[in-house]
Amino acid sequence: MTINTIDKQRVLSGIQPSGNLTIGNYLGALKQWVVQQYNYDSFFCVVDLHAITVQQDPELLRQKTREVAALYIASGIDPDISTIFVQSHIPAHSELAWLLTCMAPLGWLNRMTQFKDKSAKQSQESIGAGLLNYPSLMAADILLYQANAVPVGDDQRQHLEFTRDLAQRFNHLYGETFTIPDVMVPQAGARIMGLDEPTSKMSKSTDSEYHAIYLLDDGAILKKKIMRSVTDSFREIKFSGKPERAGVNNLLTIHRAITGESSESIEEYFSDKGYGDLKKTVLASVIGVLEPLQTEYQRLINESGYLDNILKQGSEKAADVANDTLRRVRENMGFLMQS
Ligand code: TYM
Repeated sequence: MTINTIDKQRVLSGIQPSGNLTIGNYLGALKQWVVQQYNYDSFFCVVDLHAITVQQDPELLRQKTREVAALYIASGIDPDISTIFVQSHIPAHSELAWLLTCMAPLGWLNRMTQFKDKSAKQSQESIGAGLLNYPSLMAADILLYQANAVPVGDDQRQHLEFTRDLAQRFNHLYGETFTIPDVMVPQAGARIMGLDEPTSKMSKSTDSEYHAIYLLDDGAILKKKIMRSVTDSFREIKFSGKPERAGVNNLLTIHRAITGESSESIEEYFSDKGYGDLKKTVLASVIGVLEPLQTEYQRLINESGYLDNILKQGSEKAADVANDTLRRVRENMGFLMQS
């Protein structure tokens, strides 16, 4: 069932301002948002309410929220085409999250691998309940906008399954209310791995210096990180699913996701080359995409008032859609409506 009344189908996605954005965020999420904004009615939010499921420094959270919004635009999200907004500016997200939290089975929440991974790193006494309820807030983000599709990296598949299941449960209990969203994962770059540890996903919240390629890293740092990235002793430049070949596979994957070339032509190109050449080629393709992005970012972040204006307009547009859904949810659930 599609509840949107406009012709185009809708997408919604978001990124947490919980650290420096990585090339994983770009290739898994942002790059496909840029393409899809021309095909879909698009809503992209900075999910600050999700970021606080682990403790954040208030001043840094404010700064990172603006930074992430500016990086959306610098990556190619056009604010005249897409709606860009900050999650906490729309109270409907928190409200629907509560309503969904009340009906989200604890068993489903306990099975979420991201919760298991994150909570394993902390003691039971210090984990906030928000970390467990994180998927209900994410479901609220998506369902408020009646999104048909959600462009994300591979690690969000389970959260999308949860959202679909919860929406179906709600529709069954209270009548058709929500559109059931599909997950949209890119063909290349859906799971970029850490440069220092290529069997773990590249993450923005890590202390390790050589783990992630950040979107705002300068050329010298990029060179150091990529030239030091972990490879192996096989001396063969081929895509591979074997864990012992994960480093080379990851570099090839980054190159493929950036250039859009086929795996065959990339393997062919490297057939007579060594790991040094591979790293130099990946470095050049990473710099090729990040340099113009960084120039645009600097222009935006220094232009007084520009970003705040975009976010204000975005939140007005988002609020209209979100409040409309929330009104219907309240009515269907049996809350006394105010006259
Ligand atoms: P977050 O901030 O962890 O990641 C943002 C997006 O980047 C993708 N991603 C990656 N893709 C490929 N390789 C990687 N190493 C990599 N790391 C991250 C993620 O899959 C994601 O698409 N729960 C979400 C935020 C969220 C959201 C939403 C997303 C909140 N509400 C509603 C979509 C719709 C998250 O953790 O994002």
